[in-house]
Amino acid sequence: MRVSTGVAGLDSMLDGGLPARRLYTLSGPPGSGKTTLASQFVTDAIRNGEDVLYVTMHETRNELVEDMSSYDFGFERATSTDRFTFLNLTRDRSRQSLAKYGRESGLSARLASMIRQEDYDRVVVDSTMLLDHFTDGTDTEVTHFVTGLKQTDATVVLVSEMTDPTAYAEEHYLAHGVVFLHNFLEGGGMTRGVQVVKMRGTNIDCDIRDVTFTGSGLQVDPSRKVRPD
Ligand SMILES: Nc1ncnc2c1ncn2[C@@H]1O[C@H](COP(=O)(O)OP(=O)(O)OP(=O)(O)O)[C@@H](O)[C@H]1O
Ligand SMILES: [Mg+2]
Repeated sequence: MRVSTGVAGLDSMLDGGLPARRLYTLSGPPGSGKTTLASQFVTDAIRNGEDVLYVTMHETRNELVEDMSSYDFGFERATSTDRFTFLNLTRDRSRQSLAKYGRESGLSARLASMIRQEDYDRVVVDSTMLLDHFTDGTDTEVTHFVTGLKQTDATVVLVSEMTDPTAYAEEHYLAHGVVFLHNFLEGGGMTRGVQVVKMRGTNIDCDIRDVTFTGSGLQVDPSRKVRPD
C-alpha cells in the first residue's frame, strides 16, 4: 500500500507515494519547506480518515497553524478535528500525557508505546533536533529513538535539519527512504528542488526536480530537472 505525501508531483516521483508503515527522513536547509510538506502530509491523512500524531518542540500548535494559514490546503480545518493530536515536548502537559504510556523512563519507549496504543496511522516528528534536547545526542540514543518509531505500524516522517547535503546522519541510514528539499542560492535568487535520495523497494526518480511554493503549498513539477550551477 502507498501513502500520499500530500504533494501529487512528489508522489509521482515515488512511483505512487510512500510505502505505508515505514519511516522516512525529510531533510533540508532552513526555509526549504520541510514543515510545509509535513503539514500537507498530515492534511492528506486526515482527509483520508486517518489518525495523526504531530510531535514537535519548536512551536506551539497555534504557531504551527498560523505559519500554515497563508496556504489554502486546509491545514487548520484538518487539524481541528479529533483525528489530530499535537505533542509539544517542551510543554509539561504534553510530557505528562506521554508519561502515562509506560513506566519506563525514556522518550523513545513512551512515544512508541503511545503510537501503538492510540493506533496512529501517520506520525510526524519535527524535528530530530529535539533529540539533542531529550537524549545525550549519541548515535545509540538516536538509533533507539528511530528504531522505536520503526517498530510501530504508523507511516512516520522524521524531519531532520541538514545544511550540509553530504553530512548524512544516523537517521538517514535507518530510514526506509530519504527525501531532500534543496535551496540553491544563485544570482541573488533562490531555486528550490526536491530529490528522493533513497526509497527501498521502489523504482524512484533520483534527480532533483523543480519545487515551487504556491498558495496551495509545495508544488513539484516532476518533468522539470533542476541543475545547480
Ligand atoms: N504562502 C506561504 N505561506 C507560508 N510560507 C510561505 C508561503 N509561500 C512561501 N513560503 C515560504 O516557505 C518558507 C517556510 O517553509 P517551512 O517552514 O516549511 O520551511 P522549513 O524547512 O520547515 O524551515 P525550518 O528549517 O526553519 O523549520 C518560508 O521561508 C516562506 O517564505
Ligand atoms: Mg520547519
